Amino acid sequence: MLVTVPGSSSNFGPGFDCLGLAWKLYDRISFEAADRLIITGCEERFRGPENLAYRSFAAAFSEKGLPVPGVRIDFGECSIPVSRGLGSSAALIAAGAVAANVLGSLGMPREELLALCTRMEGHPDNLAPALFGGFTASTCENGKVVTVRFPLHPSLCFLAVIPDFELSTALARQALPETVSRGDAVFQLSRTALLLRAFEEGDMELLRFAMQDRLHQPFRLPLIPGAGEVFAEAGKAGAAACISGAGSTMLIVSDGRERLDTVRRALTARFPRWKILSPEADTEGLRIT
Ligand code: HSE
Repeated sequence: MLVTVPGSSSNFGPGFDCLGLAWKLYDRISFEAADRLIITGCEERFRGPENLAYRSFAAAFSEKGLPVPGVRIDFGECSIPVSRGLGSSAALIAAGAVAANVLGSLGMPREELLALCTRMEGHPDNLAPALFGGFTASTCENGKVVTVRFPLHPSLCFLAVIPDFELSTALARQALPETVSRGDAVFQLSRTALLLRAFEEGDMELLRFAMQDRLHQPFRLPLIPGAGEVFAEAGKAGAAACISGAGSTMLIVSDGRERLDTVRRALTARFPRWKILSPEADTEGLRIT
């Protein structure tokens, strides 16, 4: 079976560990019954049992108290950049669990798979869009994940500015303080609420205001050399900017392409080795063929 799973961005500024949006940027991974574990089509370092797609494949069988069968996993065509904050680990985890569910006839509904995957990843923000597509807000409590979808105004366009260096999520999480003040907590929740309306209505003024964050970006921006310039270019053009997930990718949002074309030209000249994509939202989520 072939699993096609979208990459995603999470956080969008204030919605830390909660908001996520799936992109038409896919990993295509095939799973086939085999007499042992065989992993092909990826770097040597990902070919062992620690491979995330295999770990979630195995976790789904273990969840049902079943032995884990042999499987051949082939990473045929993978377009989601690794360790760049574009949901590559969530995509692999989702793919492995769904593949196990189908190949092993485990009968788990997608909500149960989301909960299983969230236990592995630690937060549901990239997993919900990977599995269901669209723009989602998610949270989990006592092993149960609650996720809802929000509309995205069709005028909104995005640039994903992808540096030529990785940023480990573990490192980017270690940089965050353990506690926040009540003032900062109120700052976050009010911006997140306003941001959802800004996305729904394509209201750029509100979007620029609401995409502010005090919980993670101030601590992560110093880990991304060049980020200050990216945010400044976006601001000059009247667009809004945030870190995609834990970084290193940064996301720029605007209504209409014009502002983004200006930013793209400036950033291409300044960072010729970086990749700049214009991702579009995926609304279907993970699919199997
Ligand atoms: N919400 C997570 C973070 C996404 O910002 O650390 C990375 O997996």
